[in-house]
Amino acid sequence: MSLSVIIMSAGKGTRMKSIKPKVLQPLAGKPLLEHVLTTAKALGSQKNIVIYGFGGEQVKNTFAHEQIEWVEQAEQLGTGHAVMMTLPVLPTEGKSLILSGDVPLIGVETLQKLASSDSPFAMLTMSVDNPFGLGRIIRQDGRVVAIVEQKDATDTEQQIKEINSGVYCVANEILHKYLKNLDNNNAQGEYYLTDIVKMAVDDGIEIATVSPEYPFEIEGVNDRLQLAQLERTWQAHQAQNLMKQGVHIIDPSRFDLRGHLSVGKDVEIDINVIFEGDCELGDHVKIGAGCIIKNTKIASGTVVAPYSIFENAVVGENNQIGPFARLRPNAITSDEVHIGNFVELKNTQMASGAKANHLAYLGDSTIGQKTNIGAGTITANYDGVNKYKTVIGDEVRIGSNAVLVAPVSIGNKATIGAGSVITKDCEANKLVVARGRQTVIEGWVRPEKEKKD
Ligand code: UD1
Ligand code: CA
Repeated sequence: MSLSVIIMSAGKGTRMKSIKPKVLQPLAGKPLLEHVLTTAKALGSQKNIVIYGFGGEQVKNTFAHEQIEWVEQAEQLGTGHAVMMTLPVLPTEGKSLILSGDVPLIGVETLQKLASSDSPFAMLTMSVDNPFGLGRIIRQDGRVVAIVEQKDATDTEQQIKEINSGVYCVANEILHKYLKNLDNNNAQGEYYLTDIVKMAVDDGIEIATVSPEYPFEIEGVNDRLQLAQLERTWQAHQAQNLMKQGVHIIDPSRFDLRGHLSVGKDVEIDINVIFEGDCELGDHVKIGAGCIIKNTKIASGTVVAPYSIFENAVVGENNQIGPFARLRPNAITSDEVHIGNFVELKNTQMASGAKANHLAYLGDSTIGQKTNIGAGTITANYDGVNKYKTVIGDEVRIGSNAVLVAPVSIGNKATIGAGSVITKDCEANKLVVARGRQTVIEGWVRPEKEKKD
């Protein structure tokens, strides 16, 4: 059966107090709406319809690369009115999942359960301690007969703890049949999507209910506080999943994953580490406190000391990195590499056993096996317009404070004297010194301040 997904996203999100439309606010590093779209895609839906209103252009531009059927709801006259806007593009057969762009963590499994219901009208409900503000599920002899909104509910109805999550799976036939009959004779003067429940029941349709696997799946975001709380809930959930896979997370309340992390055995992650994009950690990898690791792969046995930053890097086995190291895009290290404090690598490959232990900038370069880069070494790779390569051979020793002016290459086992400015290629096995000799300036007298009495 064909499945469509309708995502209601026209709400303004006034309480966010933002210039950005609410569904573009980030949770775990991704816009709220992107979470929902990712879930919709995982369900294999034929059609994804997004109902937009406020800030429509911004929303559309953000998802320009996605296959989305955009439907405008110029005025926000209620959830029923919103879904009504989709009727011209909604297939007449099949089912639709109705979701909200500001309920980002709805899960694939929960939606699969909802979509596989035998009933042509299935909804996601849950009993909660504090149902205030939400629609209540009215049952008779256990069967759902209606949904009543908070503002329309009688005192008795307000006692009901079972709430409408606002997530449904409905036969398109039902939507085509009933939406046009909605009115706005209610406390809020809105067209309520929820009113089609009663219409369907009156026609003898039995409503099925499903509960979410996790309560956070149906949590909506209306203000910054809820956004921050849902972020922590989600991070705690992700941390828990990683701990179940055997990761030692020292404090799960100080862990952030904004993307995907795959892990080997006995990985250890200290506090306040942020992972972004797609990251991979091999067996026994240890990540020190405060590191930021983005789209990076770190192989087995490598230890990263605190406050190191990685972006699009590939780190080999048994490296020692940091503290305060920075690996920028296309920094690639082989095995047993050491990169110490205040060392920056960009588009640079270090062969096995190479070391740069302190204070260096290594850009657009290749560094051979067991080569040692002295403290303060700089590859001058940029003339203000073009970038050039530095090629350093195996077992080279670069003395402290050397400047390697690219393009330049240094042969195997060459030694470069401290403080050298290297502008020409250096031969293998030779000692090269390129700096002024130390001299004594005869006759020089240090100026003294005149003494006043
Ligand atoms: C709705 C349900 C309520 C349920 C609650 C769960 C109705 C009438 N009530 O409440 O039973 O408990 O969700 O959160 O449906 N939207 C539009 N256009 C509109 C109005 C809303 O696109 O004209 C979108 C919003 O952006 C949001 C979603 O629909 O993504 C839900 O709207 P919201 O106002 O939060 O829901 P309520 O109507 O309060
Ligand atoms: Ca709401």
